[in-house]
Amino acid sequence: MVSISSGALERLATASRIAVLTGAGISAESGVPTFRGAEGLWRKFRPEELATPEAFARDPRLVWEWYQWRRQLIARLSPNAGHLALVELEKRADEFLLITQNVDGLHDRAGSKRMVKLHGDLWRLRCTGCSIEFEDRRAALPELPPRCRCGRLLRPAVVWFGEPLPSEAWERALEAAARCQLFISVGTSGIVYPAASLPLVAKRAGAYLIEVNVESTALSHIADEVILGCAAVVLPKLIAELSAAERQNLASS
Ligand code: OAD
Repeated sequence: MVSISSGALERLATASRIAVLTGAGISAESGVPTFRGAEGLWRKFRPEELATPEAFARDPRLVWEWYQWRRQLIARLSPNAGHLALVELEKRADEFLLITQNVDGLHDRAGSKRMVKLHGDLWRLRCTGCSIEFEDRRAALPELPPRCRCGRLLRPAVVWFGEPLPSEAWERALEAAARCQLFISVGTSGIVYPAASLPLVAKRAGAYLIEVNVESTALSHIADEVILGCAAVVLPKLIAELSAAERQNLASS
């Protein structure tokens, strides 16, 4: 049974500037494996062999096989009620930014619009030579590793360990964190920086911080409210309770 405090609901009802940070946990109910935890990807695979520029230079085919496996897995999956609830929240807020660390594209498929992707996008490719970047939604690419028309290798347009975040996405995320009245952190372990610093930025600037996660994390101690539960259950419940409170207010006014 998920319980949401009246304080958190009040903030949700009154905040006109909202920022939301999502991590792998929001896609867990859709069937996308998370990175850490008992079943996490990084238990089975070594990040330095698969998600670094050095790994790609050493064995581009191996790296591409891993990304192709993830593309094929995710292509079969759908956004869940948690992704959809964030679309609802976006429609309600004057100022809203969804900041995602996920590369799975499920927020796009759910219909989120005001969004930045801090770690790139699994469905986009970038040339290692001419730097052209484009969308390619085919789950199985015909040739691995794929090549650009210029002849050089294409890579997934994702951020690998040791690489900087896309600067425009980061600037927008920082600004939203510093400006928002309510910051919601959903399904992230809060240990991968710089993304993990955003809740702290928001909190220091005076925002109310809600965390939604199945367990407590590195961020829990600074949160004003920790809601323990699956994102696919908690987020729709937040929206449902918000709508119910609005109906009640209308009826009594
Ligand atoms: P993690 O795998 O580190 O953490 C997933 C979080 O989701 C954990 O805190 C879980 O407790 C929580 N969780 C699991 N199932 C959930 C559910 N149904 N509802 C709510 N929460 C749930 O994933 P991230 O924090 O996203 O970076 O990892 C951050 C970055 O580390 C990733 O973007 C990736 C990875 O290395 C790059 O690839 C650059």
